[in-house]
Amino acid sequence: MLQNIVILTGAGVSAESGLKTFRADDGLWEEHRIEDVCTPEAFARDPALVHQFYDARRARAAEVEPNAAHEALARLEAEWEGDFLLVTQNVDSLHERAGSKQLIHMHGQLDSGWCLTCGERSAWEGPMGTKATCPSCGDSGSVRPDIVWFGEMPYAMEEIEAALMKADLFVSIGTSGAVYPAAGFVQTARYVGARTVEINLEPSLGSVFFNESRIGPAGIEVPKWVDGLLQSAQSSPISS
Ligand code: OAD
Repeated sequence: MLQNIVILTGAGVSAESGLKTFRADDGLWEEHRIEDVCTPEAFARDPALVHQFYDARRARAAEVEPNAAHEALARLEAEWEGDFLLVTQNVDSLHERAGSKQLIHMHGQLDSGWCLTCGERSAWEGPMGTKATCPSCGDSGSVRPDIVWFGEMPYAMEEIEAALMKADLFVSIGTSGAVYPAAGFVQTARYVGARTVEINLEPSLGSVFFNESRIGPAGIEVPKWVDGLLQSAQSSPISS
């Protein structure tokens, strides 16, 4: 019986809430060059542009609601008796708004600001801009979006690796598999013998590494998959 689940989500899980993915034809990177908005070098070169990009993302994220996929994952966590970890690459807060608790934002969060003067992270609502004052130390102009940019280390990697090493089931949802280290989690999971499932609108770049591919919109496929998993867990409960 499957006990320990690790789930990885990407932009596709929030698409049906109305947030753009990155690599679609009309996606976020089509409007901006990655190196202009998503690197420490871009921030050093043109902080106003980078703040403008993330201020717009934060404003848009505040306008949308969790969808059926976020809700199904929160339900799975609440009802699952084994270990459960949800790792998201998304910087929106739709998973927690749907009720997820065992959640890691490996690429940071839009609703957090990171002060480069005192190092503190603070909850953030509304625009940040270049002159934001840190609520912790009071310094102005040194708060950056708490987002992991290209060339920076994703958050909580040790915790994620530890969960993957004891995973029985790894599920990747709504991610293209283009960005490492997240794109490599499936290989770690396979290495330790976990069953691997992807749920995506199209086969991801690492599709060959999955035992099962469920192709379709997350808002339909995720609730269906969660229902099936919970039903099979009921018919053969986890024994201690
Ligand atoms: P991508 O835009 O690369 O991939 C989104 C995936 O979701 C694609 O494979 C789509 O086919 C799929 N998709 C779209 N709509 C869907 C739906 N309704 N249901 C299911 N799947 C759907 O986004 P990510 O893989 O999340 O990092 O991108 C990974 C990282 O690249 C992001 O976290 C971001 C970016 O650079 C940072 O900003 C650090």
